[in-house]
Amino acid sequence: MFSMSIEEQKQAAAHAALAHIQAPCRLGVGSGSTVKHLITLLPQVKNNLASVVASSETTARLLEQNNIRTSTLDSVGDLDLYIDGADEIDDNLQMIKGGGGAHTWEKILACAARRFIAIVDGSKQVKRLGRFPLPVEVIPLARGYVARKLAAMGGTVEWREGTVTDSGNWILDVRGLELTAAAEQERQIQQIVGVVENGLFAVRRADLAIIATPDGITQHGG
Ligand code: 5RP
Repeated sequence: MFSMSIEEQKQAAAHAALAHIQAPCRLGVGSGSTVKHLITLLPQVKNNLASVVASSETTARLLEQNNIRTSTLDSVGDLDLYIDGADEIDDNLQMIKGGGGAHTWEKILACAARRFIAIVDGSKQVKRLGRFPLPVEVIPLARGYVARKLAAMGGTVEWREGTVTDSGNWILDVRGLELTAAAEQERQIQQIVGVVENGLFAVRRADLAIIATPDGITQHGG
């Protein structure tokens, strides 16, 4: 009987993504434990990589440890492909991201990329987004103000105290928001002054999801 653990699922999803890295690829690399598997595997397709841009300082360090040189987004321009994990993904390939607090840089790379592939284990698949608290990166000065606005929208807000993002900002985790119109909610949260970026990836959703379940891999999208 073929049955993969969560860690094996993450590795399998990362491995399946390798086939999509075609030369010459300007690749954006996400953040998190699933992407960590991808980074370990990337040397196998090194010849297909024209340039690599990291979505966090942690990812940049991991890439360098694996002898993959990184470039800045501005020196590369647009990306051919962005590969990243997710905290939740629905059937429309809309996601919640930012469990690791890196969603602002991640969303910039995702938007700069022609194609976005999400690599996830089966536990991330949901019918409706919102069980995972929505991360919202805020300018520190605006923490209380933004928290009150999010509470007025129906959210229960918790400051992720002690976490400072790669841009020097703070994170609020929001539970209980109604996310059935996720793209609309994503835009609405961005209207609050002091919000740097929220972790809804609905306006820029994934083009392809590679989902590893205990029984194997499924691919959704194109
Ligand atoms: C980091 C992210 C990650 O993609 C997300 O948290 C998934 O991480 P993991 O692969 O460890 O489950 O958005 O900001």
